[in-house]
Amino acid sequence: MDISVKAPAKINLTLDVLHRREDGYHDLEMVMTTVDLADRIDLTETSSGISLESTSGFVPHDDRNLAYRAAALIKKRFGIQKGVHIHIHKHIPVAAGLAGGSSDAAAVLKGLNRMWDLGLSVEELAALGLELGSDVPFCVTGGTAIARGRGEILTPLPSPPPCWVILAKPPHGVSTAEVFGALRLEDIRKRPDLDAMVEALRNQDFDGICRNLSNVLEEVTIPAYPQVRRLKERMIRFGGEGVLMSGSGPTVFGLVRRENTAKRVVNGLRGFCRQVYAVRMMGGLEANT
Ligand code: C5P
Repeated sequence: MDISVKAPAKINLTLDVLHRREDGYHDLEMVMTTVDLADRIDLTETSSGISLESTSGFVPHDDRNLAYRAAALIKKRFGIQKGVHIHIHKHIPVAAGLAGGSSDAAAVLKGLNRMWDLGLSVEELAALGLELGSDVPFCVTGGTAIARGRGEILTPLPSPPPCWVILAKPPHGVSTAEVFGALRLEDIRKRPDLDAMVEALRNQDFDGICRNLSNVLEEVTIPAYPQVRRLKERMIRFGGEGVLMSGSGPTVFGLVRRENTAKRVVNGLRGFCRQVYAVRMMGGLEANT
């Protein structure tokens, strides 16, 4: 049986780091939402083992790939003898702050749950996902949510009102571990106002969402990569109504209401940045199956 699963990217509308934990991770508080830029994962059952191919030259094809590790985890945990071939049609930029690898892993968990009739609930899949990475539980559920703890304690929220999301990815990738490692919690000057963001989402208040976009990791990534700041400035100049770096970066996103403005921002950024996308907010649509 062949199964295709959509693996959408996420952006952070807010990202706050509360403290460093004993286990080396950080307790976070962030608002995440899915956008309509997605990889497609095709799963084909084989007699044994795990193999992986991808349309991107930038992702590993062995157990360094989170999607591969997701299949290995399922096989081991449930004693599955059969194998799977994973074909990743990559559209989400890699090492970009868009949870592309985590979303691929979540899609493999969901797909194999169906392929091998495991009967796992969304909560059980999310718990398995946390063993692979902090963003995987959110990617299993999708939509819009507050994520706390390492990222696995999820509180669903209303999705943002329909709008355009312009994504611009500088040529270099960023290591999340390095960004967290360089973060000095005592130096954080401006923190997100979570209540104000939640209120703006509840009221479907586009301007309120734009005003409250905030990510403390910008304070680490922007000094290291000044191109992120220049991209933000350009996005604002060309018409981005709310502009922020996503996750640990380096992708910058801009929210705009009108299609014409979206086109203007995209055209304005071309030439400065090769990877520019104009996509829709996924809204409440559960489009990741
Ligand atoms: O969980 P994941 O493997 O995606 O995390 C990558 C790195 O990001 C971790 O090794 C850690 O350095 C950092 N991180 C963190 N606190 C979190 C999530 C990630 O410090 N809540």
